[in-house]
Amino acid sequence: MSRETKSRSKSKVLAEPPPVQAPGLIGADELHGLDEHLSAMMDRLKAAIYKPAGTKPTPVFNAAQLARLCGKSGSTMLRNLEKAAELGLADGLAEGATGSQRSFTLEQAIDWVCALGGAAYQRREGQQAAVITVGFFKGGVGKTIVATSLAQGLALKGYKVLTIDFDPQGSMTAMLGVDPATVEAEETFTPLGTPPGHPLHRTTLAESIRPTYWTGVDLVAGSTNLFQCEFYLPLRAMNAQAEGRQFNFLEVLAKGLRQIREDYDFVIIDTPPALSYTTMNAYLAADAVLMPIVPEGLSLQSSAQFWDMFTELFDTAEKLRDTPKRYAWLGVVPSKVESHKPAVQSMLKWIRGFYGEYVMTSELPQTDVVKTGGTTLGTVYDISKYVGSNKTYERAREAFDRLVNEVELMTRRHYWGEELADDITGGKA
Ligand SMILES: Nc1ncnc2c1ncn2[C@@H]1O[C@H](COP(=O)(O)OP(=O)(O)O)[C@@H](O)[C@H]1O
Ligand SMILES: [Mg+2]
Repeated sequence: MSRETKSRSKSKVLAEPPPVQAPGLIGADELHGLDEHLSAMMDRLKAAIYKPAGTKPTPVFNAAQLARLCGKSGSTMLRNLEKAAELGLADGLAEGATGSQRSFTLEQAIDWVCALGGAAYQRREGQQAAVITVGFFKGGVGKTIVATSLAQGLALKGYKVLTIDFDPQGSMTAMLGVDPATVEAEETFTPLGTPPGHPLHRTTLAESIRPTYWTGVDLVAGSTNLFQCEFYLPLRAMNAQAEGRQFNFLEVLAKGLRQIREDYDFVIIDTPPALSYTTMNAYLAADAVLMPIVPEGLSLQSSAQFWDMFTELFDTAEKLRDTPKRYAWLGVVPSKVESHKPAVQSMLKWIRGFYGEYVMTSELPQTDVVKTGGTTLGTVYDISKYVGSNKTYERAREAFDRLVNEVELMTRRHYWGEELADDITGGKA
């Protein structure tokens, strides 16, 4: 912009200041007008985010990306691709096309992963899904991004994953392509929270499960109706006490999950930034807890308060149990890390001082690749081709891959009890 036009536009801005609002101009009519406008705009925004209901696009993969997913070199992958017809798998070549450009859908890619070895761990007879709850009572630390990426990343490795959204805001539900406003109470955890005799009441979660746009990831959605559990759960506990019965109101989810645990390898639960009776159900159903911490400001103070409250609720549940509860692992993962900042480096040291061996090796950088703003809702795994620097993408992708690998390894070792060599990297050894 030339100096002349710049100064002209500046004077234009100065010439037309925003209208000064006279006091008393905004009343019920204006507020209702704004409310109607916002809801119409919300419909337009949703149409942009969700397209027609439930059709969030999945990524497509080229041969090199497929090779990476399968843990094969480019040449080994190519040799396998030449046998596609024999194996009954997609060769990725468009019908009738002469070019050698290959392209695979998410489903075809996962089929290839499974055909070339599949999940690194095969559950043995009687072994159950590992339930991992992602939580912290601070918002905006990346819980939902971590939970969603973990589910997608594990599915890309050939595992079967169930996700449960415990956040009434339904952010993970939205990330998985479902508009939380369209979710009915019976499609969430809520029926398990309601008392017997309530029209919604159920004791199992199976009926609430739906498939998602991501092959291998199912969902029990979250929506605002989850709030009612906060009222019903303690009420049921009080009623039981009055009748001289014992009722563990903090482990309703743990019980409801029992029947479906053999159908999945992992259950990933996303929680709201609060510790309540409802979210405590998510922590007590868990075999492992993953806690993202942003190395900044008052994070450590909040996290210490979190464990303080958590321990108190844990003790309450312990009194209602026959056997003591034990977790297979706890993982604190530094999230949204801006590692070039000296203050962040010093905070990371403090985090290691506070949490010692519970701090994971993985660290998630603050990155432009992860976005939930505007009309894009996605994780690193949603991207087929990053419109930005490849270095930026790779850095983010590798960090999330490391987290997925670490979670997989800790679960194999500490939950399924597999003996693993220390130097195993999580690749298909
Ligand atoms: N590693 C990251 N880099 C950049 N932005 C991130 C990262 N992780 C999360 N975010 C952004 O931070 C915001 C909060 O993330 P979210 O996962 O919703 O946090 P929480 O569930 O803890 O409230 C979102 O806008 C999300 O896109
Ligand atoms: Mg969240």
